[in-house]
Amino acid sequence: MNSQTLGPIEAQLAARLAAAPVVPLIGENDAARAIETARALAAGGLSVIEVVLRSSDAQKGMEAILAETEDLIVGAGTVLTLDQAKSVVASGAQFIVSPGLVDDIALYCLDEGIPFFPGTMTAGEVQRAYALGLRAVKFFPASLAGGVPMLKAFSAVFSEMRFMPTGGVSAGNLSEFLALPSVIACGGSWLTPKAAVEAGDYAAITRLASEAVSIAQQR
Ligand code: 3PG
Repeated sequence: MNSQTLGPIEAQLAARLAAAPVVPLIGENDAARAIETARALAAGGLSVIEVVLRSSDAQKGMEAILAETEDLIVGAGTVLTLDQAKSVVASGAQFIVSPGLVDDIALYCLDEGIPFFPGTMTAGEVQRAYALGLRAVKFFPASLAGGVPMLKAFSAVFSEMRFMPTGGVSAGNLSEFLALPSVIACGGSWLTPKAAVEAGDYAAITRLASEAVSIAQQR
């Protein structure tokens, strides 16, 4: 996923995403609910999970998932600063996602062998990520940034770059994004609806995960 040889975490992540190219977002503040949500996603076949740092206790939720579950790859999303990146890596985050491209986070992750997916939505941002040494980026917000046609245009120019479209992806358009060979996975919150998490309807989350896996298998 970067210009060097794949490190152990990168290779494991690449293998998981090849098998099930969907990354659900967990935004839950409550650690117990975060753990149950992660388990429900895994039961549906999704074992790469991004915990977004958008609330005071989100990092604790990520740490709880790491402590209480096995065989999941758990990353941190909405990482905005280098300090935050270092903090989540110290807590065990196995990959990092940002809404935009911050060079010092990219360089730190490349040094540490931590997969980093910065949000990009212009050719200039993709090119900067490429020049820094990244070979996979988030495409964000995917639907507003031009969707599949924009990704096709990027893929023609940046032939080595791989993309993780996120933002506006759903069961309805997942297959269109996954049809592009340059797409390594799609990310999104549609797999963890707030109402289902708050109601403790984990069976609904497992059903959404299974549906995404079956769409991905038709790739
Ligand atoms: C993100 O953090 O990547 C996006 O906010 C997720 O977008 P979605 O809610 O449309 O999936």
